Amino acid sequence: MGLTQDQLKKQVADAAIEYVKSGIIGVGTGSTANFFIDALGEIKNKIEGAVASSKSTADRLEAHGIEVFDLNSVNNIDIYVDGADEITEHMHMLKGGGGALTREKIVAANSKTFICICDETKYVPTLGKFPLPVEVLPMARSYVARELTKLGGQPQLRDFTTDNGNVILDVHGLTIKDPIELEAQINQIVGVVTNGLFAKRPANILLLGTSDGVKTYAKN
Ligand code: 5RP
Repeated sequence: MGLTQDQLKKQVADAAIEYVKSGIIGVGTGSTANFFIDALGEIKNKIEGAVASSKSTADRLEAHGIEVFDLNSVNNIDIYVDGADEITEHMHMLKGGGGALTREKIVAANSKTFICICDETKYVPTLGKFPLPVEVLPMARSYVARELTKLGGQPQLRDFTTDNGNVILDVHGLTIKDPIELEAQINQIVGVVTNGLFAKRPANILLLGTSDGVKTYAKN
């Protein structure tokens, strides 16, 4: 019998623990990241603490007795561990299903190695089947929605407020052929905080949970 999606998520979260040596760890958001946080709790004496990509991640880290640092007080983060909604063989990711995309992208940008932990349902040939989240300043919501429609998408307002006090437009109907280009293009729209394409800074290591075990992919 195959493993459940939760078992696959736990498997990759445990595999990511092998990369944790010392210092301060960047920690993502979502159900897969939660398995990682729980595993990190078991080895918390090895590390100094963590930088969190959301309030919910910070709360969970603290519940395990892991110190959470403000990113501005930290110089170097060796590894950032996070899930994704979709990832390709080029390590381009679509993220933000949990709404934490902006803080995730900021912590990832400050980290040397991005380790993506996913179950195999997230591994796709082309990004875009999962609606692309775009974080937007509330006053710009209608304008940005019209601009996203011009790019061929169908934006839908999510009933959600981000940790930064903004709204999210989930863009349906995109087939993303050039994720690096589209990431830049959407970020140029006035009022956009950031979008859920993580292509300019892709993952460096992918730990993919499959029923045959964890597969490891690396990109330099
Ligand atoms: C949150 C994210 C998550 O990494 C993404 O949504 C995957 O979540 P899960 O591990 O629960 O499937 O980008 O903003």
